[in-house]
Amino acid sequence: MPNIIVVSRDGTEKTIEAENGLSVMEVIRDNGFDELLALCGGCCSCATCHVHVDPDFNDRLTPMDEDENDLLDSSDHRNEQSRLSCQITVEDKLEGLRVQIAEED
Ligand code: FES
Repeated sequence: MPNIIVVSRDGTEKTIEAENGLSVMEVIRDNGFDELLALCGGCCSCATCHVHVDPDFNDRLTPMDEDENDLLDSSDHRNEQSRLSCQITVEDKLEGLRVQIAEED
């Protein structure tokens, strides 16, 4: 059960104890961050769960597949640290991960 730090669009930070096996999207959504819409429910087809992740964790994240990569290309706010949070699985090795909710497209 790693602790994950979520930063909302207004800069507010909240540390959440995240359950292993859930997606980071589910953890964010279930902890009251209404701005993360996650409209497709996690099936990698909406990109409304876009976050920017702490670069220190790049090697520890679930690798990005082609579908996620293509979907992120549709965002005006994509950068090097962009991920779809529904595609990252919570594991102990993510202890201390910091994710910032991306701007809305
Ligand atoms: S919730 Fe739709 S792509 Fe992640």
